[in-house]
Amino acid sequence: MRIILCGFGVVGQSLVKLFDSRAEDLYAKYGVKPRVVGVFDSKGSAVDSSGLEFNKLVEVKKKFGTVKNYANTKNSMTGIEILKNVEADVLIETTASNYKDAEPGMTHITTAMKKGMHVISVNKGPLALAFPSLMELATYNQVMFKFSGTVGGGTPILDYAKNSLSGERITSFAGILNGTTNYILTNMATGLSFDEALKDAKDKGYVEADESLDLDGLDAAAKLVILANWIMGMKVTLPDINCTGIRKVTTDDIKKAEKNNCSVKLIASCNKDLKVSPIEVSNEDPLCVNGTLNAIAFTSEHSGTQTIIGRGAGGMETASSILRDLLDIRKEIART
Ligand code: HSE
Repeated sequence: MRIILCGFGVVGQSLVKLFDSRAEDLYAKYGVKPRVVGVFDSKGSAVDSSGLEFNKLVEVKKKFGTVKNYANTKNSMTGIEILKNVEADVLIETTASNYKDAEPGMTHITTAMKKGMHVISVNKGPLALAFPSLMELATYNQVMFKFSGTVGGGTPILDYAKNSLSGERITSFAGILNGTTNYILTNMATGLSFDEALKDAKDKGYVEADESLDLDGLDAAAKLVILANWIMGMKVTLPDINCTGIRKVTTDDIKKAEKNNCSVKLIASCNKDLKVSPIEVSNEDPLCVNGTLNAIAFTSEHSGTQTIIGRGAGGMETASSILRDLLDIRKEIART
């Protein structure tokens, strides 16, 4: 499969490492041979229609901070130019989520779909701002649009609700969908102040470059939008979410929760309304996970409540979700 990879940060690099280490069994088990024909980062690009070398891409990025130096010609094509000029089957969109105008991811995705390419996105911005219209565009152009890594990283939350619970009627769900704020709240419960816990999370590299995405609940709200559209069949975007972050959570709130055998957690929920806010969760509830973990509980009409727990971020974890989507696309192509 010919792939154009937009963005070559932690996730993009993890993905090509995964392709490299799994090359033999991907071919033997699934008949898939991922061929990355174009890669683009913020400083330049690398293009080879016969396939770029995975190891070399990672080495060049490490040495020069960009894939631009992959060939002596130092390719400066932008993502859009690559998408317009290089033939490929799948776009993998991994540029940073942006909740103002969703660019550059939005244009990458729409350009690829209009060209008849299937799209895998781990970039949440375009989905948060335009889920309903992107689904329509994919249908209109008869391409597949996959995004399982946008919620839960490597933990297949969307696939579980969509496929494992098929036939069920999910009536509500509630989850911890942001690992960074969960880490901060967990550390505040051990006695750290908000500022100390935030500093520790930053030192560990958990906090987004724009800390507001984590702290003000935008990242969790974006994931809630994706779940609401995909799982509940709603047609909503980011402004429809009633969103409060964790900046105002005090050590007193945490102590008060402890007295009730509860912990304060940033919960994204879909019940009567769509909401992200810090609330008390019983320590006995399986949803009450600590550290950077994510968890989500789906309540269905017939099968009750089930909770899925797993890591919600990380380069290799997210790369594994992209591989999952790629294999789904391969299977679907083979079926039709
Ligand atoms: N900032 C996000 C988190 C990364 O902390 O969960 C994964 O989307």
